[in-house]
Amino acid sequence: MVGYRVLTKALAAGALAVAAFLPSRAETPAAHFKARVDMKTFMEHVLTPAATVIWRVNGLIIDASGEHDLSPKTDSDWERVVSGAATLAEATNALMIPERVPDREWIKYAEKLAVAAVKAYRGAEDHDLKAVSEVSDQLDAVCAACHRHYGVE
Ligand code: HEC
Repeated sequence: MVGYRVLTKALAAGALAVAAFLPSRAETPAAHFKARVDMKTFMEHVLTPAATVIWRVNGLIIDASGEHDLSPKTDSDWERVVSGAATLAEATNALMIPERVPDREWIKYAEKLAVAAVKAYRGAEDHDLKAVSEVSDQLDAVCAACHRHYGVE
């Protein structure tokens, strides 16, 4: 009998120890979303640099030394496109932080941008120039649609 009780105690202690290592959903602190920079800074310093990486994919520069095609060629060129597209895709979540959202329409524009960014990200991962180039062509219209809606110059 004594042995049995010791065993139950040991099992109970073991269960408690396991429980202590598995945080229940209820104990997970609520996510704390907060805009850290103002909208102008977010647009200029978060969205624009990430979008620029995707726009460059279709870029051609002509200078004194001739034509320079800016499309990605080496693995490290592609890594940069992956970074820009991944950053843009994740930045669309920051665009939807509640205090940044004036109305339901905003979410639709942010989600359109997310779809484009994810397409660019997948294309970049696959080194698929055509796919990224298509997003590059369409991206400006996605940004501009939201700007037009909210009267941004
Ligand atoms: C969901 C709506 C929305 C989307 C999508 C959006 N913008 Fe904006 N953007 C705004 C608003 C609102 C402003 C005005 C911000 C302010 O000045 O307070 C703005 C302003 C800007 C500005 C001007 C900042 C300044 O100097 O005042 C730039 C640059 C910009 N956006 C870039 C982009 C780019 C690039 C994209 C697409 C990759 C994009 N935006 C997508 C809403 C959006």
